Amino acid sequence: MKKTVIGFLGGGNIGGGVWRLLSEMREEIKKRDGVDLEVRKVLVKDIAEALEINAAKGIDIPVGCLTQDYTDVTRDDEIQIVCEFMGGEQPAASYMEDALNHGKSVITANKVALALNWAQLQAAAEKSGAGLWYEASVGGVIPVIRVLLQNLESDSVDRVMGIINGTTNYILTRMTNEGKDYDEVLRDAQRLGLAEPNPAADVEGMDSAYKLSILASLAFHGRVTYGRVHREGITNITATDIACGADMGYVLKLLAIAKKDGNKVEVRVHPTFVKKDHPLAKVDGSLNAIFIHGKYCNDITLQGRGAGDLPTASAICGDIVDAALCVKPRYPSFKNTVEDEASFAFSDNWNTRAFIRLSAVDRPGVLASIAKTMMEEEVSIATMLQKDVQPDGRVQLIFITHPAPEQSLRRALSRLDASICSLEQMIRVED
Ligand SMILES: NC(=O)c1ccc[n+]([C@@H]2O[C@H](COP(=O)([O-])OP(=O)(O)OC[C@H]3O[C@@H](n4cnc5c(N)ncnc54)[C@H](OP(=O)(O)O)[C@@H]3O)[C@@H](O)[C@H]2O)c1
Repeated sequence: MKKTVIGFLGGGNIGGGVWRLLSEMREEIKKRDGVDLEVRKVLVKDIAEALEINAAKGIDIPVGCLTQDYTDVTRDDEIQIVCEFMGGEQPAASYMEDALNHGKSVITANKVALALNWAQLQAAAEKSGAGLWYEASVGGVIPVIRVLLQNLESDSVDRVMGIINGTTNYILTRMTNEGKDYDEVLRDAQRLGLAEPNPAADVEGMDSAYKLSILASLAFHGRVTYGRVHREGITNITATDIACGADMGYVLKLLAIAKKDGNKVEVRVHPTFVKKDHPLAKVDGSLNAIFIHGKYCNDITLQGRGAGDLPTASAICGDIVDAALCVKPRYPSFKNTVEDEASFAFSDNWNTRAFIRLSAVDRPGVLASIAKTMMEEEVSIATMLQKDVQPDGRVQLIFITHPAPEQSLRRALSRLDASICSLEQMIRVED
């Protein structure tokens, strides 16, 4: 029986989940795959504290396996696979590079370290002939990395669109279902442990942007760096926006969108209205879903748990078995560099429909004036809704536009006559 010795960098939520899954499935994996997976070392910050936390969670990592020295994992001659579950960019990326330099295959669930250091990590892997696996870095258990890296290798993908952050999807779902405001739902999510005490990485869209940079690079076979991703979060979304969108047949999601047309590439993360019958509209709570369109495969939608110790552990253990059985590691076919792919023309003037909510004075001629300004910038209105007069005597006007270039839309909004209306919200709409 082939034995593969594994080391963990980090033994928190995901490390504990992977330990549990491997313990429970070890005999079954031996039977199915003919490989005995043994975890020999686990890096933690503080051994005494780790023992206490693991005991409370029922995770039985023996004290002899725990170490506070990362080189016990990255440089141990017997360890063949190093799994990184520490999170954050550094020191996680340097530790992974050290492991790769010492010929260990590396498996990571860390989108930040991967998105920002992918080129260096891949170069180290290729140099030592080691493998680099990262299925759980995007979409938790959803097998999207494998689909893009292997199944669609010979296709020509032109669109990837998804809900890839569970925290924001949970918040938006509750705002939609309960009509509550952002701050109240965020506080609840924090109390339930579904949002971090500092929620910025999720609610300001950074988490989705790291993941989109990885997905777009794989989908389009060229480096799309994190810095290229246009990013807007959900912090200024109100219950009124969501209710007005619902009145017009739309549901609000934080979408990560990557499109390619010829060499023109756009990558963006922002709140987006989708029609109520759109497949992504029904993806609720902390679920994730990713839609892919390719020239030959047509449409693919993948959905599942984007987080959680055991779903994520399931994806990671798939990588571990692959790494243990792999004869020759597979690397992305594109030249992975620190810089963007030179042949891509990145565009921030994408074509989009928009939901526009204005507060306007209630008098004749106002609508005509707004429509005229829009038309002058070649933004045409598809539908309009007028809400009842407010206590301040103003009315809420809501428009959905036809597709227009982003910059025309912005110019039109900046030229609206401030003496008759003010812009309350602009949210893009995706078909
Ligand atoms: N949680 C999920 O559902 C999920 C899903 C997909 C991907 N991921 C990714 O998986 C990774 C781990 O997430 P997690 O939820 O397991 O986080 P976590 O519970 O905070 O675990 C990380 C562990 O690593 C330890 N650590 C951090 N820096 C260290 C260092 N320099 N030396 C030794 N130990 C160190 C932490 O110790 P301290 O607690 O003492 O700092 C903590 O025990 C992250 O990259 C995350 O993005 C998580």
